[in-house]
Amino acid sequence: MEEKKKVIFSGIQPSGQLTLGNYLGAIKNWVKLQEEYDCYFCVVDLHAITVKQEPKDLRTRTLEVMSIYMAAGIDPEKNTIFIQSHVPAHSEAAWLLNCYSYMGELGRMTQYKDKSQKYGESIASGLFNYPVLMAADILLYQTDLVPVGSDQKQHLELARDLAQRFNNLYSETFVVPDPYISKTGAKIMDLQDPTKKMSKSDDNPNSFILIMDPPEVIRKKVSRAVTDSIGAVKYTDEQPGVKNLMTILSTITGESFEEIEKKYEGQGYAQFKKDVAEAIVAELEPIQIKVKELVANKAYLESIYKAGAEKANYIANKTLRKMQKKIGFIPVSK
Ligand code: TYM
Repeated sequence: MEEKKKVIFSGIQPSGQLTLGNYLGAIKNWVKLQEEYDCYFCVVDLHAITVKQEPKDLRTRTLEVMSIYMAAGIDPEKNTIFIQSHVPAHSEAAWLLNCYSYMGELGRMTQYKDKSQKYGESIASGLFNYPVLMAADILLYQTDLVPVGSDQKQHLELARDLAQRFNNLYSETFVVPDPYISKTGAKIMDLQDPTKKMSKSDDNPNSFILIMDPPEVIRKKVSRAVTDSIGAVKYTDEQPGVKNLMTILSTITGESFEEIEKKYEGQGYAQFKKDVAEAIVAELEPIQIKVKELVANKAYLESIYKAGAEKANYIANKTLRKMQKKIGFIPVSK
């Protein structure tokens, strides 16, 4: 008998244009994992509205993110690609799980703490509850593995805690998911301030590289990336800028840090930066061409997200019914 494949779930918010961090920390790993697992790749539009979104931009970006998944190599025939809001069970399960999560544990989430500093009193309560929605996403599919960047680790811990709490309170309902965080690329840093994570919501465009940045822009941004005055290509915490560029290069080309150090020994940063930029361009340019083709083909995209929603709804509703039954809700008679 064929063994049942383990399940992967992951998603990206269409809340801004995707960065090289999203690509190296998440999508590139998904592509590697798709053969071995039963994968659900979601465009998490419900998460995106935790901060203000222009409706027109949200629509455009949702389809663009979906196109990036496919252009990067996610095969829609083998994987389930779908849009979160097409599966109402996510919102429903999130409400249920909200009633089993504690204010204390949500208040400790570093992403919430960072954002609440920025927004103060007028922070949306959706931002506070956001990790519960993420837990619902994951648990509805009986997910075994969640490939994410290291910034999502704490949210994943919450998903595990909620799964265990619910299982203990009632009976076995959810698979307890494990994170999959790759050794390189799990945290790509800001090019202008390499002590913080590269983020699509940063105000300074020189601090990030977008997946859709034209080659010339990529070259300029890498040449402007902050390094140091030491002048040696070395993988060390004392040189966070250089370390980050080495991480980017290594994650793309597969070269080890030792190999990279050796290659640029005694050379300063000029050639190194040029090579980093060219490696990024070579990786992203073919993806960009495919994304442009895909976003122009609305009918094809619709056929993918429709089929994805159908499969995702079926699986997610099965888990949701199970939750409702265990909680004590009366099932609607047929
Ligand atoms: P989001 O949209 O912020 O980021 C999407 C993915 O990209 C990774 N990532 C990075 N990896 C390396 N370096 C970076 N600088 C970098 N920036 C972002 C993130 O770790 C993530 O894997 N809450 C999630 C979306 C989500 C989700 C889920 C993920 C919602 N439901 C269920 C997995 C499973 C988020 O905001 O990711």
